[in-house]
Amino acid sequence: MTLLVDPFNRRIRYLRLSVTDRCDMRCVYCMAEDMQFLPKASVLSLEELARIARLFVSLGVEKIRLTGGEPLVRQNLVWLVRELTGLEGLRELAMTSNGTRLAAMATELREAGLQRLNISLDSLHPARFREMTRVGDLDAVLAGIAAAHAAGFSGIKLNSVILRGRNDDEVADLVAFACAHACDISFIEEMPLGRIDEHDRRESLVTSAEIRERLAASFDLRPSTESTGGPSRYWRVAGSETRVGFISPHSHNFCGDCNRVRVTVEGRLLLCLGNEHSLDLRALMREQGASDEALREAIVEALQLKPERHHFDDADAPKIVRFMSMTGG
Ligand code: 5AD
Ligand code: SF4
Repeated sequence: MTLLVDPFNRRIRYLRLSVTDRCDMRCVYCMAEDMQFLPKASVLSLEELARIARLFVSLGVEKIRLTGGEPLVRQNLVWLVRELTGLEGLRELAMTSNGTRLAAMATELREAGLQRLNISLDSLHPARFREMTRVGDLDAVLAGIAAAHAAGFSGIKLNSVILRGRNDDEVADLVAFACAHACDISFIEEMPLGRIDEHDRRESLVTSAEIRERLAASFDLRPSTESTGGPSRYWRVAGSETRVGFISPHSHNFCGDCNRVRVTVEGRLLLCLGNEHSLDLRALMREQGASDEALREAIVEALQLKPERHHFDDADAPKIVRFMSMTGG
């Protein structure tokens, strides 16, 4: 079997597949207030998404994460979940969700075979939550987290993007919430994806080291060597099952052991979160009527474009105009 290996000898086992650029929230670090969404014709059909997933699994990908935008705003997403869980060779199907629709959908997703959920949660104060998401309703998300537990999801991970002056005083409360709800939690440094006027990202950055320092006042954190195959580095909260992860694109470059690629909902295979190198799978499928074999070959070849690392902090680095919602969060 041909496998996916890049020029730096990194084996690609993990695909992040965006199923929509749309979302029912407008988080200030993720989107502009007046986001323009893609016309329907540009967006891959569920069948095209399933085909791409199948090809990647046939090339040795073992883990797929459905992302967005918010995956659960996509119509008939459960059909895609069922298709993917049937793929031989796929070990883990995960989803990143903002949680707003989980109260309604968690059981159906679990029954369709979804294995893991990451749920975004930036604040436990309703008014602040509303400010950070512009439109979000904290209660809906808390109900979603409860529904995910009730549906039998285990190993739920919360994701919190921490912004200075916004929610940096909540990190201990968020960890306490994770402990009380048997979740893991990862703190994410904001990444410069897409142009945003709402705040100055250089000023809002709170580094993982600073968050860890704050947490040390309330928790005994023990470094852990565990990895879940993503960019988080984990600490364990002594006396609980909860792991606290840090995704630190600024302060710790996680590119060395990168094992993943992304496909946007327009069918663009992105080789790196922080670079524009890509392959247009949609054009190959729609305009050239490419066979499975031709697509596989193109994907294997495209891996030669995978850059060694992102350059978020280099002054002369190319600016990424793609929003996270276009990239696949
Ligand atoms: N920087 C870091 N994280 C981001 N997310 C969205 N935009 C950004 C950004 N610019 C996060 C969300 C969610 C996940 C999908 O990506 O908080 O947890
Ligand atoms: Fe939606 Fe997630 Fe972006 Fe927030 S971070 S606007 S929930 S896609």
